[in-house]
Amino acid sequence: MALRVLISEEQIQQRVRELGAQIDRDYPDGLLYLVCILKGACFFFTDLARAISREVSIEFMGISSYGKGKTTSGEVKVTKDLDLSLEGAHVLVVEDIVDSGVTLHYLSQLLLQRRPRSLKIVSLLDKPERRIRPVEVAYVGFRIPDEFVVGYGLDYAERHRNLRDVCVLEETP
Ligand code: IMP
Ligand code: MG
Repeated sequence: MALRVLISEEQIQQRVRELGAQIDRDYPDGLLYLVCILKGACFFFTDLARAISREVSIEFMGISSYGKGKTTSGEVKVTKDLDLSLEGAHVLVVEDIVDSGVTLHYLSQLLLQRRPRSLKIVSLLDKPERRIRPVEVAYVGFRIPDEFVVGYGLDYAERHRNLRDVCVLEETP
């Protein structure tokens, strides 16, 4: 399999700075929890958190909906839950990619039951063509075509997460 750069490190870092500034403008007051969805969002999360100037708390949650392949299993599992209550706090879920929407649809329902003051989603990538469940994504880094991507946290069978660019994983003949 071959890797082709789709979004470069420079483009990612520029967009992350813009998103950070926008989030600063949109959340003037109150406690803000940034919730990292492990593992895919890990690098985006740490860069975004540092592009935000207002005070935030960082929290981690593990969700898995994929097997080892490229398509969703349709089953969502919480593998690591949050350690604290969300009641009364602004919550911004930080995800790597919205694909079918199954994961974030499920997660939104789950987190809303915990009565946050507000709940929004920021996703580095969005593949709108693939949606089968409705999800409202407040902030999107990049809309991308229906291609399987790796790097900057995203994996294929746990590989390629540490690439600095987002790359398309292409089958080689
Ligand atoms: P959804 O539930 O189908 O929206 O899938 C969301 C999850 O699938 C993401 O958090 C990723 O972990 C994974 N995923 C979807 N598309 C890709 C891709 O192109 N590359 C790597 N992982 C992906
Ligand atoms: Mg993920």
